[in-house]
Amino acid sequence: MAEHPAYPVGLRLSGRRVVVLGGGQVAQRRLPALIAAGADIVLVSPEATPSVEAMADAGEITWKKRPYEDGDLADAWYALIATSDVEANTAASAEAERHRVWCVRSDDADAATAWTPATGHSEGVTVAVLTTEAKGRDPRHTAAIRDAVVEGLRDGTLVAPHHRTRNPGVALVGGGPGDPDLITVRGRRLLAEADVVIADRLGPRDLLAELPPHVEVIDAAKIPYGRFMAQEAINNALIEHAKQGKSVVRLKGGDPYVFGRGMEELQALAEAGIPCTVVPGISSSISVPGAAGIPVTHRGVAHEFTVVSGHVAPDDERSLVDWPSLAKLTGTLVVLMGVDKIGKIAETLVAHGKAPDTPVALVQEGTTAAQRRVDATLATVAETVRAEDVKPPAVIVIGEVVTVGPRPAE
Ligand SMILES: C[S@@+](CC[C@H](N)C(=O)[O-])C[C@H]1O[C@@H](n2cnc3c(N)ncnc32)[C@H](O)[C@@H]1O
Repeated sequence: MAEHPAYPVGLRLSGRRVVVLGGGQVAQRRLPALIAAGADIVLVSPEATPSVEAMADAGEITWKKRPYEDGDLADAWYALIATSDVEANTAASAEAERHRVWCVRSDDADAATAWTPATGHSEGVTVAVLTTEAKGRDPRHTAAIRDAVVEGLRDGTLVAPHHRTRNPGVALVGGGPGDPDLITVRGRRLLAEADVVIADRLGPRDLLAELPPHVEVIDAAKIPYGRFMAQEAINNALIEHAKQGKSVVRLKGGDPYVFGRGMEELQALAEAGIPCTVVPGISSSISVPGAAGIPVTHRGVAHEFTVVSGHVAPDDERSLVDWPSLAKLTGTLVVLMGVDKIGKIAETLVAHGKAPDTPVALVQEGTTAAQRRVDATLATVAETVRAEDVKPPAVIVIGEVVTVGPRPAE
């Protein structure tokens, strides 16, 4: 028989008889997908692995505990021949041919009339990879191609935008602290499918360079806001682009709901009737200390950590932070947006009982190539920030956890 390429097809097996001969490792690997396809599965085999036996016990398959007999394939739509008895396999193959039942053979791909592709799933799509001809069959290679495609679709490095089922609207995506590897898989995929990306200054800006040329990238800091507040201008830009039927990603640093105004944006979109999905991100409040070798909790040292904003000084009437109470906590204090006000913050904490020699670390531009860590104490931090010229963005960690780990090489 001349060698032609295999013809790929998806079998809809729901309620249809599939006969599996042999209850060993091959059956164990293949049965879950057949069960998931809703097939009416009959296993013919004197023995089975414990996993296959469990499928029979659970009623997912019917198990005939005996060797193959002629006639077993008579009413099958599809057969998987995988016994260790070559004679039985050959006889079953012949029967399948007689009854025009497509059959897979685990021992002899050449003698089979069907091949099982390497399959994987991503977002409602099944990826199935087959080698073209029997002589070129290399299951590890097809599995590697399957893995590469599925991984790529999951993490967005393979761009396959939806067309018919595309959902215009806005995704508020937490981009993580800055390292492009620290965005979530879902965030990265949505970014790869976006028509418009409105990005903050913080977050994984390197990812923007990878976007295809047709994607409009807007710097949130540069949106003109005339008589509007900046946030209102950003909300309006999100709404306007979404109303044009585009997929809009609002790429934010860290997590959208940690000092990220995520809910304000979501509320504005909801009021405008725009669908919005929120993708969590790795917050700098935990990851940036971690990147600099500081755990926010440590057994026997800190049983709590508190994240606060230091964007207004403790004596500012707009401050919602109860600094005197924070001074009494024994755990870790993580301050975001606090570089400018750290002198006042340290002074207030000490005035309300925190020890002046409490360790403090400032981690600037954490997880990026420019990451730097500066250590001080509450008594010295104001002067250290000046002397070392620490600049935002930085996460400030106050507490004994600062000194528990080895200092990573800078
Ligand atoms: C407006 S807040 C946004 C926080 C963000 N939503 C999060 O969850 O990380 C900005 C502050 O986060 C901190 N920050 C964010 N990314 C940082 C980074 N890579 N290195 C140091 N600090 C960072 C700084 O304190 C900065 O002033």
